[in-house]
Amino acid sequence: MTGESEKSWILMATARSPTNIAVIKYWGKRDEELILPVNDSISVTLDPDHLSATTTVAVSPSFEQDRMWLNGKEISLSGGRYQNCLREIRKRARDVEDEKKGIRIQKDDWNNLHVHIASYNNFPTAAGLASSAAGFACLVFALAKLMNVKEEYGELSSIARQGSGSACRSIYGGFVKWAMGNNPDGSDSIAIQLAEETHWNDLFIVIAVVSSKQKETSSTSGMRESVQTSALLKYRAETVVPSRVLKIEEAIRDHDFASFARITCADSNQFHAICLDTTPPIFYMNDTSHRIISLVERWNQSEGTLQVAYTFDAGPNAVMIAPNRQAAALLLQRLLFYFPPPQDTDLTSYILGDKSILQEAG
Ligand code: DP6
Repeated sequence: MTGESEKSWILMATARSPTNIAVIKYWGKRDEELILPVNDSISVTLDPDHLSATTTVAVSPSFEQDRMWLNGKEISLSGGRYQNCLREIRKRARDVEDEKKGIRIQKDDWNNLHVHIASYNNFPTAAGLASSAAGFACLVFALAKLMNVKEEYGELSSIARQGSGSACRSIYGGFVKWAMGNNPDGSDSIAIQLAEETHWNDLFIVIAVVSSKQKETSSTSGMRESVQTSALLKYRAETVVPSRVLKIEEAIRDHDFASFARITCADSNQFHAICLDTTPPIFYMNDTSHRIISLVERWNQSEGTLQVAYTFDAGPNAVMIAPNRQAAALLLQRLLFYFPPPQDTDLTSYILGDKSILQEAG
């Protein structure tokens, strides 16, 4: 390793990754350490302008240890998941040369160099939408860029997976499938892009923030308890998901919104049924979430065709997918009617900003 002056140089790389919303949920691991799921899952990656993480990684001989700041606050890197990602990227690191700065790092030097990581989310932290998916995907991209890792996206997705399962799907834009794989070492448990970002351009996603509180049961521990106690989880993974995956892939390919919406809603509801089937039961949705489901179901039934799909992750916030701008506008109108903003609330901040918490308005 050489540099202008042994301790003075610093090399940086930045990446940005959006979060993704699962329409066929990942819920349950068959291997906790490698993060291998019990079923395939499918998601849509959001537009990076709205919900994404931006991560800068820096390396310098003057850094004495690996450190990380999340939204400006230092967090511990001692957790196995960060260490797994760092280890896997360092293993694949290559020589790096920056002629202008006179820096030359050899492959093996990466094991003795420490990194500093700064990551920011572009969505309000109060929104309760913080997702590890964007964070770990972004971390893996930024580290790979810094360390000149040349592996294909599939390989990077399997590294991001070891940070957080859902993160492997954020490696790609558009519609993405995380194939559960069969190999015990997880080498075939990777994400695959089903369709590019531009494939189904008309879709609109509306997120209704129902609560900004942090969930009581994390996804990690919730799915562990479900694997241990829910018979419905086993049934869903083995019997329901395989055919659902084929059908939704077809719906995505053919732009068949009615079929896409039907499967998305059914899968969200079955995932929450598994949570109730867990001992002790896990309640991620609340009364407001249930009111939103009823509102959408009533609307879909009254029109005779599906207007909007809904899906809920491990929390009460609703993610709704509309087939076009007009349906999204009608959905927004309905939401504002049923959950009017409190008096004196600026409509823009109610719809887009920190004040957009339906429960407080209801
Ligand atoms: C309900 O990926 O957060 O959002 O792998 O333990 O980090 P870990 O879990 P995580 O779980 C996401 C669960 C989900 C469904 C999904 O995104 O597929």
